[in-house]
Amino acid sequence: MRSSLKLLVPLMVLAAPVAVMAAQRTYPNVGTPLSQTEIQAFDRMIGPEGKELPVGRGTVKEGAELFAKRCEVCHGKNGENGITHHLVAGQPGKPFRGPFYGVEKDGPSYFPYPTIAWDYINRAMPASNPGTLKPNEVYALVAFLYYRNGIIKETDVMDEKTLPKVEMPNKNGFIPAKPVYPPDPKWPSWY
Ligand code: HEC
Repeated sequence: MRSSLKLLVPLMVLAAPVAVMAAQRTYPNVGTPLSQTEIQAFDRMIGPEGKELPVGRGTVKEGAELFAKRCEVCHGKNGENGITHHLVAGQPGKPFRGPFYGVEKDGPSYFPYPTIAWDYINRAMPASNPGTLKPNEVYALVAFLYYRNGIIKETDVMDEKTLPKVEMPNKNGFIPAKPVYPPDPKWPSWY
């Protein structure tokens, strides 16, 4: 027993570099560098100013039809009382201005920037089949949801120019992402 232990230790010491070498082995046929075009296909994030928004447009009416077909099953009729996130706080012509405590936080009324709903729906919805909506469809869905939330009028059209200009009712409800100078008296604890 003692002698086998004596052998085991030097053996382990000898085996260590072999293990390291095995870990460093290259696998020539596994993984290829992504091309610039492939990387761009992933690069679908839309920032707060909406500079990355694709050209397109959608109306409230088109959005209502699409919503009934592709969203209602989970989010309920007109985005209210569904089995998951309630997408409406407030009502047409009457935006909800807070406080945001509970289910009011679940819908786009809560978002500080108008482009968030576009970005989110485009990438993540419908949850059962994300990434399948065309830009015009996303504009229409956002128009519909903003109308139901009282944020825009029924006749407003959402496109790459009008959407970033929408005034969100909760735009001042967040601490700014970047510190501002001079300090904003509303957020003294920032400094
Ligand atoms: C299969 C069910 C399902 C369908 C269909 C679906 N959603 Fe959702 N949706 C969800 C779930 C679940 C969440 C919450 C996801 C999370 O919080 O991670 C969500 C979240 C959302 C949110 C964000 C709410 C928030 O503030 O966090 C929006 C906006 C939204 N959905 C819009 C849509 C639209 C528009 C459609 C139709 C194109 C759609 N959803 C279809 C299940 C669904």
